[in-house]
Amino acid sequence: MLDSASKAFFNLLAQSTLLKHLGSRYGMRRPDSFARRFIAGEHVSEAIEAARAVEGRGMTHTLDFLGEGVHTLDEAYAATREYLEVIQAITDSGIGRGVSLKLTQLGLDVDKATAVDNLRRILEHAEPAGFFVRIDMENSPYTDVTLEIFETLWQQGHRSIGVVLQSALYRTEGDVARMNALGASVRLVKGAYKEPRSVAHQKMADVDGAYERLMKTLLTHGHNPAIATHDPAIIAAARHWTDEHQIAADRYEFQMLYGIRRDLQAMLAREGYRIRIYIPFGREWFPYFMRRLGERPANVMFVIRGIVSETR
Ligand code: FDA
Repeated sequence: MLDSASKAFFNLLAQSTLLKHLGSRYGMRRPDSFARRFIAGEHVSEAIEAARAVEGRGMTHTLDFLGEGVHTLDEAYAATREYLEVIQAITDSGIGRGVSLKLTQLGLDVDKATAVDNLRRILEHAEPAGFFVRIDMENSPYTDVTLEIFETLWQQGHRSIGVVLQSALYRTEGDVARMNALGASVRLVKGAYKEPRSVAHQKMADVDGAYERLMKTLLTHGHNPAIATHDPAIIAAARHWTDEHQIAADRYEFQMLYGIRRDLQAMLAREGYRIRIYIPFGREWFPYFMRRLGERPANVMFVIRGIVSETR
């Protein structure tokens, strides 16, 4: 269970170049290196292998070619080209077709119009090939612009896209209503970023309470909502709500992150629930990895043990 201070601390560490250097050196180099617990690998072939294993366990997946906060247009174009290669590799491999991406990976911080063009290029390849593209939600300065870009593309007829909303933010009730009115699929998460008191709940109990309320609205009125959490109490509440309101299991899905609560993933799949695993991969894994550490500081010990054994 994360608290606000540990989130802030790890969000800060995620920006450290020294740690990034150390992490990149040791985190992924052996099959048992510590970062591999949460990240499938640096290459798309490793993500495809992980996806096949997930499918073998009766689940689906969305692949995330990690990257965020690029600083130049060249980097944004390069990330877009790489995403197109990823889409081709997934298509050729025959695994299920779904990806998740971040708008700052496509250049949102540099030039909004370019980021939109880059996303459109990706959709032009992905949609005809039968992909579903989920736009991840970054921290609150990006909420408005992410939803605005999403709505623009939706109005232009793109239907194989979905968004993510965070229960930590006060505004999310309004955004859920807005996305439900549009007919768009929402992935509901608690929120991985340290946010200021002016925009977000600071206590976990408030984030959890908001999650349950928003989840019930999405399950009842949403369009193929994704209940993305590893929280057993919330998952139990979702099951109870869908039983009570006779919401069929094919009208929503659970989602969890690669490497987290595999026991719970397996149990839900066994019981016939739809469950999708978010499989991150790529060279730019460090910020994602730090967010996972911030959610559960106990993970830090496991990393320290990993680094010690790598450097021996
Ligand atoms: P919570 O943090 O309360 O954890 C519940 C339990 O899950 C813990 O007690 C522990 O057992 C386990 N657990 C959770 N995190 C763990 C970890 N790092 N290591 C080990 N165990 C852990 N966020 C965002 O801001 N934008 C986004 O686009 C996305 N996208 C996304 C996709 C998917 C599929 C998921 C599941 C999550 C995201 N998130 C996200 C992350 C999300 O906001 C949130 O930070 C994490 O899911 C952790 O919150 P939980 O809901 O699991 O609850």
